[in-house]
Amino acid sequence: MKILILNGPNLNLLGKREPTIYGNQSFEDYFKQLKNTFPNVDLEYRQSNHEGTLVDWIHEVGFSYDGIVFNAGAYTHTSVAIADAIAGVETKVIEVHISNVHAREAFRHHSYMAKNCVGTIAGLGLKGYELGVRYFTED
Ligand code: DQA
Repeated sequence: MKILILNGPNLNLLGKREPTIYGNQSFEDYFKQLKNTFPNVDLEYRQSNHEGTLVDWIHEVGFSYDGIVFNAGAYTHTSVAIADAIAGVETKVIEVHISNVHAREAFRHHSYMAKNCVGTIAGLGLKGYELGVRYFTED
């Protein structure tokens, strides 16, 4: 089982960025934990601040991997290109947000990608990524 954890813009700053919203742990540190939680799953992690790179990576893995757990960051609320990329591939995608986007500014309440994803996990902190992986492994 091969699963991609994909993070979009500014998520490279996790641990330093707005810690009251996103916590104190870096994603690299959390990813080590995640790999220990799923020793039998081939987990891969990528992060980019660039919309086109995220689209390219969805195309690259989207016909062979078993799942994508994707936090598109702010592109969630702006990107038709990312929503179309998800619709265009075979691999199922789960949308994840660390914070509860529905309890924040109104512009964070809408997701272009949500309707093309299997489901959305929001507001459960980094645990949301684990739950996303679990969906694919227990499916
Ligand atoms: C986020 C929520 C987005 O609104 C924001 O732009 C992010 C992170 C989250 O994980 O809570 O960059 O996706």
